[in-house]
Amino acid sequence: MKNLKNDLFIRACKRLSVERTPVWIMRQAGRYLPEYRAIRSKYDFLTMCKTPELAAEVTIQPVDILDVDAAIIFSDILVIPEAMGMKLEIHEGKGPVLHNPIKNENDFRSLREFDINDKLKFVLNAISITKNELNNRVPLIGFSGSPWTLLCYMVEGKGSKDFTKVKSLIYNNPNLAHKILDKLSDIISNFLSAKIDYGCNAVQIFDTWGGILAQKDFIEFDLQYIQKVVQSISRKEEIIIIFLKVVHHNLDKIIKTEFDVLALDWTMNLGEVRKKLSDKVALQGNLDPTVLYANVDKIKNEVKQIPASYGKGSGHIFNLGQGILPDVNPENVKALVKFVKEESKIYHSNILNEI
Ligand code: CP3
Repeated sequence: MKNLKNDLFIRACKRLSVERTPVWIMRQAGRYLPEYRAIRSKYDFLTMCKTPELAAEVTIQPVDILDVDAAIIFSDILVIPEAMGMKLEIHEGKGPVLHNPIKNENDFRSLREFDINDKLKFVLNAISITKNELNNRVPLIGFSGSPWTLLCYMVEGKGSKDFTKVKSLIYNNPNLAHKILDKLSDIISNFLSAKIDYGCNAVQIFDTWGGILAQKDFIEFDLQYIQKVVQSISRKEEIIIIFLKVVHHNLDKIIKTEFDVLALDWTMNLGEVRKKLSDKVALQGNLDPTVLYANVDKIKNEVKQIPASYGKGSGHIFNLGQGILPDVNPENVKALVKFVKEESKIYHSNILNEI
């Protein structure tokens, strides 16, 4: 990673000193950007994911337009269930749909074994092209859903309000849930290892739906498998980020896993979490994404409070607490990135010792 022209993100993830807090945005390649919509108007979402040149192009758009400190490869967490044989459709505005969701053992058995280098080669090719085109300007992040989050979609078939199907599965047929989670853990760790092998400097595991579980169930059906994935990823100095949503409990157990960065949603208090975890990991986040609907002065005020909450010193990567929403004004996003860069400097200089 020595060749990177901008390695602020890497240094902050490793809690090494930085001149300012690095910033990137979850879902930074997306519909809020007119440049993304121009390409999306010609191709459907999955075609974009499966055409490495297009995926690389939209991956780099936010680096050019927003001047963020990291790129995240354009893809989706649901390419794994699709590679396992489930039919995936992503409808504009309605979100993703997986046809014939898993109801029983037979449905699970009918899923196929697959070779990542065949069925998911398009993601690896997109990483190669992106690395080439980025030419070491900023680090590249790869990602996957957590086993639990993928199970939610594979059993519900789509996003859900109360997740009754997947919750019924864990109470009525926990063995089947564990079998699928175990299988997904193997696939995810192999896939993330391949992404690292193809040049990703970091990988992020999105645990979007861990917060719907009771605390004990979170450990049994979610955290246990995140740990399995993390332990099996083959890496050298590459970084592992875990994104949790609405998981305020079990932080002491969570950080026993060997990852580098904990990404938080906006309902958590950065400073409090930092204190609780005694700087054992770096923290990423966690501005409420709806702040981007406010005017620029208000955005500046809200942005300032995030590094203030984290406090002095390295180990913080600025991000939203969830993916950016599709209808925000890109000018506000540009302003946000600029404010983070300006307003975070004082937390990394010695001047603060004198305040
Ligand atoms: O961060 C990035 O820029 C990388 C790209 C990325 C996408 N999806 C592109 C995408 C990433 C990291 C994801 C992760 C993802 N996908 C998650 C976990 C993160 C989270 O937000 O909780 C989840 C749950 C999914 C599943 C998924 N895919 C949903 C719920 C949707 C619908 C979103 C919507 O607003 O319609 C998708 C589709 C999707 N994935 C889009 C993008 C840019 C929109 C598709 C379009 O252009 O129409």
